[in-house]
Amino acid sequence: MDTTATTILIFGASGDLTRRKLIPALFNSYRKGRLPEQFHIVGFARRPWDDDEFRELLREGMLEFDPEAFTAEKWAEFVLHITYFQGNLDTPADYADLPDYLAKLENGPVNRLYYLATAPEFFIPIVQNLGTADMVGEADGWRRLVVEKPFGHDLQSAQELNRAIHAVFAERQVYRIDHYLGKETAQNILYFRFANTIFEPVWNRNYVDNVQITVTESVDVGRRAGYYDQAGVMRDMFQNHLLQLMSLIAMEPPTSFAADAVRNEKAKLLQAIRPLPLSDTVRAQYAGYLQAEGVADGSQTPTYAALKLHINNWRWQGVPFYLRSGKALARKNTELVVVFQKPPHLMFDAIADTDFSSNVLSICIQPDEGIHLRFEAKAPDSTRTDSVDMEFHYKSAFKGNSLPDAYERLLLDALRGDASLYTRSDSIEAAWRLIDPVIQGWEQDPEAPPMVTYDPGSWGPAEAEKLLQRDDCAWVLGCMEHADS
Ligand code: BG6
Repeated sequence: MDTTATTILIFGASGDLTRRKLIPALFNSYRKGRLPEQFHIVGFARRPWDDDEFRELLREGMLEFDPEAFTAEKWAEFVLHITYFQGNLDTPADYADLPDYLAKLENGPVNRLYYLATAPEFFIPIVQNLGTADMVGEADGWRRLVVEKPFGHDLQSAQELNRAIHAVFAERQVYRIDHYLGKETAQNILYFRFANTIFEPVWNRNYVDNVQITVTESVDVGRRAGYYDQAGVMRDMFQNHLLQLMSLIAMEPPTSFAADAVRNEKAKLLQAIRPLPLSDTVRAQYAGYLQAEGVADGSQTPTYAALKLHINNWRWQGVPFYLRSGKALARKNTELVVVFQKPPHLMFDAIADTDFSSNVLSICIQPDEGIHLRFEAKAPDSTRTDSVDMEFHYKSAFKGNSLPDAYERLLLDALRGDASLYTRSDSIEAAWRLIDPVIQGWEQDPEAPPMVTYDPGSWGPAEAEKLLQRDDCAWVLGCMEHADS
């Protein structure tokens, strides 16, 4: 690793993300000896705190969000690297003292990671202020920018944000976060597909009947209604997480694991998704959403959606990809399911008329991380077949290796200069190109499917079941069926 000192400057450091995710991730990397030998973490925010108050807040955050990793001894060492700088994110004058403040702390050449952990309206002002304060030049060490989601509210605002960033930073300096890509199990999709030989030959239209991506959450909008009511499930989950998962499961093999080789294939895949008719969409809101504090009267914001997508390429022609996600559902569960075609000819008379199950491969992203392959076996002492399961659970296969939080991996990658798990501007724009017309259609097209309501704690509206029934299919919850109890 580069031995130059490194400063991680977190904008919006008084917010929840810093306490909940960033500091626990950095602390874990520190105790594993993975941070650069010399480093500083500087929190930039408006509140009139001093270093000690800021550090105390972070300590409480550690105890609340990652108590198992916390040890007073390690923390006492770690916290000495943390300081606080008070300033308004969008006041250029408040950046005037920042270079001197940092120079005193750093005392020599330094690499710097600027992390935008703020509300999105501050992204452009911060970037411009960094430019004006002359904090982007790399004569003294690298300068990188990590941008949190949401990256834009629609295609136009995403393009504006990209332009504003590129006016100050080169694309190679920019790291756009999608924390789903940092999940171990999401990273494993590429390993599963391309570190093995037996799956890829059947990973196409000749063998696959349909692919399903389910991302359900049991939590409702909670205290985030102010943000959520403006975003809705399409912007909050589909534009980023679900489409990124889809690109991993469907992309062509890259020639190498280098950031651009991987990201070229992902962008190609997203660009090949066919614009979808509104008739292939379902939108829904959970009962009680309208009563949540911060939700506009009569809000038409969907908290659930299901989509049927097609990819215009040789590999996937004719194979539907069904995606669904929502809040206030029965359980938290993220899985990708590949449903294979049924055998072309059934020679087993006794079962010819029964519902012969397809082979199903389920990739469980969370919470019971693993992979399952369902296949048919002869039930003993009968001519029947039964569905059985070959299974892999992280918990039992990698005993003693707990799965690191996505932010731990992503922050380390940004420090190492590896952008493979970060989203490039072309992918972000391709995703908006697909999602924007759906949101607009729902809002403006009288022919759009109406908003339906679902019960909190259910698996979503009946309309989502019908979307698949139309194609003689059904949603599969392969991971839940085989949860490791
Ligand atoms: C965030 C969304 O990006 O992802 C939240 O804004 C959502 O609404 C969260 O709850 C889900 O992330 P995870 O890692 O808990 O599945």
